[in-house]
Amino acid sequence: MKASTLTSLSLSLLSTASSTAASYSPPPLVVDVAPDHLRPYILPRYKGHAIKLTTSGQIIRFSITTNSSDGAFAVVQHTSKWTGWTSARPHTHQEAHEHFYCSKGRVELWTKKNVTGAIDEARVLTLGDFGTAPPGTIHTFQHTDPDSQLTHIYNPAGFEELYNVFSIGDFVSPHGSPYQLIGDDQQPFGDVTPEQEALLNSLDLYVAKADVYVPRRDFVNGTAGDPSINWHNSNNWHNGNNSLSSDPTDPYYVAKDYGPKYLNSENGYKVIQPLLTAEQTPNKNFTIGTLTLSPKLEGDKTNVAKLPHHFAIQMDEGQLALTIQGYKTEYLLPGDVAFIPSGTRFEYYATVPFTKFLYLNGGAKGLDYELLANAVPWDFPAYPE
Ligand SMILES: *[C@@H]1O[C@H](CO)[C@@H](O)[C@H](O)[C@H]1NC(C)=O
Ligand SMILES: *[C@@H]1O[C@H](CO)[C@@H](O)[C@H](O)[C@H]1NC(C)=O
Ligand SMILES: *[C@@H]1O[C@H](CO)[C@@H](O)[C@H](O)[C@H]1NC(C)=O
Ligand SMILES: *[C@@H]1O[C@H](CO)[C@@H](O)[C@H](O)[C@H]1NC(C)=O
Ligand SMILES: *[C@@H]1O[C@H](CO)[C@@H](O)[C@H](O)[C@H]1NC(C)=O
Repeated sequence: MKASTLTSLSLSLLSTASSTAASYSPPPLVVDVAPDHLRPYILPRYKGHAIKLTTSGQIIRFSITTNSSDGAFAVVQHTSKWTGWTSARPHTHQEAHEHFYCSKGRVELWTKKNVTGAIDEARVLTLGDFGTAPPGTIHTFQHTDPDSQLTHIYNPAGFEELYNVFSIGDFVSPHGSPYQLIGDDQQPFGDVTPEQEALLNSLDLYVAKADVYVPRRDFVNGTAGDPSINWHNSNNWHNGNNSLSSDPTDPYYVAKDYGPKYLNSENGYKVIQPLLTAEQTPNKNFTIGTLTLSPKLEGDKTNVAKLPHHFAIQMDEGQLALTIQGYKTEYLLPGDVAFIPSGTRFEYYATVPFTKFLYLNGGAKGLDYELLANAVPWDFPAYPE
């Protein structure tokens, strides 16, 4: 590294301004760890700085951080084998609005608004299921399939720093193993000490102790809670009409493909499934959803966008060709994450049928806003023939 830096420095001293400009090459777009400052990047699946969260092998990988998003939002991937324990003490945040997306296997999630009379809601999430815990919501989670991945999203960014503080060591896997293979399933923590509690509070985590909250375990067909709430209106779990809450302080869940859907037919087909709009967050500056694209056919144009907010995607299905201004085209596979700062032009198209990604917008007027402006309500998660 050092030698080549010196070489390019000495070359630039000898060369004219124009040839220096021509020899400039930007840092690589595809990275192994999230950058420490705002810039576009693509982080392939199972890449990123990884830390050991528990002695039983649970891993946190940092996909988008305070540094890489300039504080807008953070994303970590939490991977684990099946465990019999929740992987956090039930807790609330005062600043962070936390969102959960099951990106592999199966995860149980609990949410209870911290107000008198609130009902503890619990769901078993499988791939593509979403839940959200606004500030003040007591929540916890547990991986319950042999290879499970929960994507945690925080707006604004900042809370993810807690994982560095409580890391029990870096996890280094040249083969990109999802988690540390440990047979034991120890309880990850005991009662919180006053010292731990003070440290946790300073990191925006407030423990709900066992005298005020114990996660319910009475799941029936993947759900427990108020029987009048969505997700289980009919006899099959994962059923019913999952509309988004109208109160931004309410936790809620959207089962994969059961939420609102819209079709945009401007250039090929795009099915937009909002999971959270600016109305559903007290910060009023974040949106989440999924976008499912038909492949680019002959005559279709490449989609072009330049957004007023920081933007990210996490791939779910298919393959996406993504060209970010100043870089060559990259091809994204499921699990890959791309981060695009505001004001950066990018082009994208699906190379194969049914390419789907999760989108995250650090503001109310992101990609979904533009696509929804020319979309119609739609009854299917699939696009027309
Ligand atoms: C964020 O960036 C600052 C400045 O470069 C650096 O000191 C800090 O260690 C970074 N934080 C992390 C978690 O990488
Ligand atoms: C969103 O709003 C929150 C609360 O006002 C603020 O802390 C955060 O910085 C905002 N984020 C962006 C990207 O504007
Ligand atoms: C729940 O709300 C009460 C009353 O505002 C507060 O005293 C308590 O600290 C909150 N609990 C958590 C875990 O945030
Ligand atoms: C659970 O699912 C089974 C099979 O679909 C169904 O017969 C039963 O009524 C469901 N129970 C509830 C409480 O929804
Ligand atoms: C779902 O709920 C929305 C809002 O309440 C309603 O407009 C829509 O008709 C419902 N759809 C179905 C299939 O029940």
